Amino acid sequence: MVVVSGERIAEREWLAGLPDHVALWCERWSLEPDGPPRSGEAALVLPVLRPGGGPAVLRLQMPKAETRAALVGLRVWDGEGIVRLLDSDPVTCAMLLERLDDSRTLADVEDDDEAMTVLAGLLRRLTSVTAPTGVPHLREIAADMLARTPEALASLADPADRELLSSCAAVVGELVGEPGDRLLHWDLHYGNVLAAQREPWLAIDPEPLAGDPGFDLWPALDSAWDVTVDPVRLVRRRFDLLTEALELDRERAAGWTLGRVLQNCLWDVEDGATALDPRQVTMAQAMGAPEA
Ligand SMILES: Nc1ncnc2c1ncn2[C@@H]1O[C@H](COP(=O)(O)OP(=O)(O)O)[C@@H](O)[C@H]1O
Ligand SMILES: [Mg+2]
Repeated sequence: MVVVSGERIAEREWLAGLPDHVALWCERWSLEPDGPPRSGEAALVLPVLRPGGGPAVLRLQMPKAETRAALVGLRVWDGEGIVRLLDSDPVTCAMLLERLDDSRTLADVEDDDEAMTVLAGLLRRLTSVTAPTGVPHLREIAADMLARTPEALASLADPADRELLSSCAAVVGELVGEPGDRLLHWDLHYGNVLAAQREPWLAIDPEPLAGDPGFDLWPALDSAWDVTVDPVRLVRRRFDLLTEALELDRERAAGWTLGRVLQNCLWDVEDGATALDPRQVTMAQAMGAPEA
């Protein structure tokens, strides 16, 4: 018997209704399609022309808590280091966004220090903003991770994996009382920084939350590992660059990065994994977690 979860059914229904949504929002906002649609992990992005011919994109994503938080974050950032929100619908989370140049992302920049310096500059600006209400808070996210850890530990076969996950949770346990109050992007990796005109590079695709900027480093540290044969060294170099640019306390930033490792591992285990992803283990080791 094939079991289809409620979420999957909702996803299928949303996908089936997508052509109608596109037509609806093009009509409501008087948009002309202007090229083939793009997509990433979760969204459909259609290049459009606004009345008067200005280029924009229509971005449709299944309405979820993260999508609503994205609208809140984009409104608060108001284009400072990130794509500008031109219009939006709070119910369906349809967004009309300024059009950027999707033919070039930071993943296309050959020199990793150069790419990471750009990303660090954007992350510094984004996380300089105090988080508004209406976005999830790291305080609750971290407490929830700690509550889920014992069950995940019981699913891991290798004692070394259990030890590593426990040590990540122990670090998060020490930090959870000081979760921070900045507006975080949560997913600022190279592919989510596009070339632009009003600035050379701008961020897209936030899943904002309130918290410590140290919790925002992992996607950058984890970007495009195929550029190296020594990921630990690359991660540590990037960590130095990011913590210096954002003027972060290194120990706290490493601790919250282990928090991201914990978050990723919990999702994997809850999806059925019985061993930790070697990539997560490498990241934990680069952040100083004990070697198994
Ligand atoms: N403002 C924009 N201008 C031009 N292209 C965009 C814009 N926003 C997104 N895109 C394109 O659509 C893709 C998916 O959008 P993204 O917001 O990253 O959604 P996902 O959550 O699906 O990754 C991007 O990788 C990029 O190619
Ligand atoms: Mg994306």
